[in-house]
Amino acid sequence: MSDLQNTQDDVKAENRIFPPPAEFAAKAAISGMDAYHALCKEAEQDYEGFWGRLAKENLTWHKPFESVLNESNVPFYRWFEDGLLNASYNCLDVNLQNGNAEKVALIFEADDGTVTKVTYRELHAKVCQFANGLKSLGIVKGDRVVIYMPMSVEGVVAMQACARIGATHSVVFGGFSAKSLQERIVDVGAVAVITADEQVRGGKHLPLKSIVDEAIAMGDCEKVRNVVIYRRTGGQIGFTAGRDLWMHELVANQAADCEPEWVDAEHPLFILYTSGSTGKPKGVQHSTGGYLLWAKLTMKWTFDIKPDDVFWCTADIGWVTGHSYIAYGPLAMGATEIVFEGVPTYPNAGRFWSMIEKHKATIFYTAPTAIRSLIKASDADPAVHPLKYDISSLRLLGSVGEPINPEAWMWYHRNVGQERCPIVDTFWQTETGGHMMTPLPGATPLVPGSCTLPLPGIMAAIVDETGNDLPNGQGGILVVKRPWPSMIRTIWGDPERFKKSYFPEEFGGKLYLAGDGAIRNKDTAYFTITGRIDDVLNVSGHRMGTMEIESALVANPLVAEAAVVGKPDDTTGEAICAFVVLKGARPTGDEAKKIATELRNWVAKEIGPIAKPKEIRFGDNLPKTRSGKIMRRLLRVLAKGEAITQDVSTLENPAILEQLKQAQ
Ligand code: PRX
Repeated sequence: MSDLQNTQDDVKAENRIFPPPAEFAAKAAISGMDAYHALCKEAEQDYEGFWGRLAKENLTWHKPFESVLNESNVPFYRWFEDGLLNASYNCLDVNLQNGNAEKVALIFEADDGTVTKVTYRELHAKVCQFANGLKSLGIVKGDRVVIYMPMSVEGVVAMQACARIGATHSVVFGGFSAKSLQERIVDVGAVAVITADEQVRGGKHLPLKSIVDEAIAMGDCEKVRNVVIYRRTGGQIGFTAGRDLWMHELVANQAADCEPEWVDAEHPLFILYTSGSTGKPKGVQHSTGGYLLWAKLTMKWTFDIKPDDVFWCTADIGWVTGHSYIAYGPLAMGATEIVFEGVPTYPNAGRFWSMIEKHKATIFYTAPTAIRSLIKASDADPAVHPLKYDISSLRLLGSVGEPINPEAWMWYHRNVGQERCPIVDTFWQTETGGHMMTPLPGATPLVPGSCTLPLPGIMAAIVDETGNDLPNGQGGILVVKRPWPSMIRTIWGDPERFKKSYFPEEFGGKLYLAGDGAIRNKDTAYFTITGRIDDVLNVSGHRMGTMEIESALVANPLVAEAAVVGKPDDTTGEAICAFVVLKGARPTGDEAKKIATELRNWVAKEIGPIAKPKEIRFGDNLPKTRSGKIMRRLLRVLAKGEAITQDVSTLENPAILEQLKQAQ
């Protein structure tokens, strides 16, 4: 196994400790472990008092709240429910009032390197004009708007404009297929879609608007009255008169001021779809007040953001990381942030480092998968090694989305952090709204591969199958014992699924189940995430349900049956491996290759290119118990290329294992 592989045993045995640099700690928002423990204690002693204080201090309320937490309808918790506020007001107007008007909010770098800077005053005006434009289309508070856009100033503007008028946005990642987009448009009941003509990534123009057209043409999208198009490339697009409008024309005559729509703290700011263990993605619904509080506070606590920082989160606005740490958190803090349109490997794999040098980025937040691929790239071509660039502006690094293996951590520490930047390994989820467990850079001694400890106020624990606490050193199920302000409120349109997925009765209905396994170190009590305990895969930090991919495969007319499992991968963390039974004879040789390619492209069409299986193996059947249940456990072993040592006596057809082992 290569040393880039994720090996959880290595993480558990990891004993290197990196205390926070004294100079960093001296200036940090939370300086030293005593300060951390004091906040934890405050939360333990007076939970509501703690959150109430933070919500008052950090957000600007149009009408202050009296009620901090309403627990009368568990698990449908309500935070700050009688308070009124507006997220866009908190991100923009507040900055105009407190002296940040001329400060650069966004440094946008396009795929080709063109840079556009937008001040808070300019961003405010753009958001207000677009908000007025949306209002002119009849979009009102409570309406849902789908955003299918590239990384752009306009993407952030679109999200903020929805927030300004109280419309709930649902951003769909620009890599999703027409079918995935259509499902989301239908499920959320969107009245409008905001998109671009095309997106530009790695020098290539990729369609967006034509995919929207295709999605709407699939049917059931009657509620969509308008499609608003940002002109990014000027590429050819179809135009449906009466429905389609150009963004620049819509805003042309709009006032640069728009009174915000004051909403309850519980008003849904956004719905973001993510994968679960069934075939149907879940619309994770987030609130306005609690969500924004945590997006802002974690910028302070985890990223220790200061007025002169240049913050760069490399995520896409289509994922939750791009919501909390691009569209909302940094702006709520009045920070300057980089928004990047392109990919880390174009025009070469030194792109991140050259951008850090150019913009003097001070805080850099990316995913382990990107780090691992850049390690490989700089091994292959020393010219793109980070230390070939002047990245001395960096003072803090972050990691998100998947476990970071200690080897990648050490490389990041030495070569990007120059052995002086703390690394915050932030564990969280679409459902949690913001960081849950992470080191605090001026307080927590770091251990490679561990997300260390919960943030103050986050009551994380590890329990067994019956919900009882497990001692440190024993792996189990990660739960959160108390509600927290930025938690998921419900699954859009499916409150029963919300309850069952996250607050199952087996655990008493009050423990939040993250869906991950974890273990705490015996000595430090630090947490290490051991991976998902459900049928969810994490490929390059992208979350995908095995069932979704299976449903896509069996929708192909050639396919009789399919089972999808994850297998460890050097670069992407996990890779998708599909075992497929065709309706016709089992293909071999070139025919197998041809059909595998066909099926991979099919999945790209059904879900999106990120869901393409890396490997497809064909069999006459799948390993099943006598009752017909597919033994995925065995498929996982086969996918890894390991020998099966488990008892297979309950299998209906043990001979199939040999066939699937060889069918590569
Ligand atoms: O398995 C955990 C993993 O990513 C899952 C959440 O995925 P998603 O909702 O797409 O959000 C990703 C961005 C927050 C988790 O259940 N995960 C996320 N961060 C980490 C992680 N696993 C280990 N360490 C992390 N820092």
